[in-house]
Amino acid sequence: MTPSSASVPEHQAVDDECEWTFVKPKKTCGHNPPRPSHTSSLTASRPPPRTGPLRSVSDVASEYRTVRTAWESSPACFSLRALVAAHAAEAPVTQAVCLGIGTFDPADGGWEARRRTYVQLVAFLVMVDELQKKTGGKKLPCFFQEPIFTASDKSFIASLGHRVVDSPAGCQRVDHSTLLFGVHLYRPIYALALKSGLPAVFVGTGWDVWDRVLLAEEAHDLANIKVMEQTYEKAVFPQDALGTAFSSTSVYWRPATSEAFPGENRDGTADEQGDLTDKLASVSIT
Ligand SMILES: C[S@@+](CC[C@H](N)C(=O)[O-])C[C@H]1O[C@@H](n2cnc3c(N)ncnc32)[C@H](O)[C@@H]1O
Repeated sequence: MTPSSASVPEHQAVDDECEWTFVKPKKTCGHNPPRPSHTSSLTASRPPPRTGPLRSVSDVASEYRTVRTAWESSPACFSLRALVAAHAAEAPVTQAVCLGIGTFDPADGGWEARRRTYVQLVAFLVMVDELQKKTGGKKLPCFFQEPIFTASDKSFIASLGHRVVDSPAGCQRVDHSTLLFGVHLYRPIYALALKSGLPAVFVGTGWDVWDRVLLAEEAHDLANIKVMEQTYEKAVFPQDALGTAFSSTSVYWRPATSEAFPGENRDGTADEQGDLTDKLASVSIT
């Protein structure tokens, strides 16, 4: 997967320090033209060949603790905790799915990309921690899907008590009571993860970003993001002061008072009027 085939918004500029693309603030008010999507692949990019040995789980765990300690005392973390606490009484969350955070051990060893992976993990777990305060201490099961996880990455996540699943099992788990967390993902992954139902909470690239870059006729696969834009509560994800970990990222909450999503009953099962996909397809994209 190369940035040019990734179905990410056009204005995401190539970050010199890693192989991914990230949204950077635009320097002008003008909008760049949309880039057509040419891929529906859900496969990960082919990373550069590794020159050194895999990092050990204890190395990864130690670096995680360092990043976590620092990030937990950052204004972004305080804002995130406050944001989640303020919304935790809304749609109930019973599980959390984290997609595509990258590897803790990139083949080129790049620190910027690695730090984003740690910071995204910490932010995801901070959200889970806050949500758990509303579940009477009941642990939310957490599932991670990232095709480029190394064996050490998987063992590290397992050592934290969470499950790593193969693609697309994480996407397929998403239901109406899921926290779905996926930052800077490619379009087909968002489309797949949101295909069969909208989550209680969604963290990812918001409709405002897609709307600026998509041609109308291309947007049906992301209609569900537009539905959330129109019917959910939304906030800008608190920005990491030291990097681009949450650029162009929003948080959407299903409001407690809202009706179940069209096509779903309150318990998240499909209603008899037809399946959710049909309903989403009928949302008009302008
Ligand atoms: C643009 S990168 C973003 C990485 C990280 N979230 C960040 O902001 O630095 C997209 C990520 O999606 C991952 N990815 C690709 N296919 C995926 C899939 N089927 N499921 C989950 N993640 C996937 C890639 O391996 C990559 O780490």
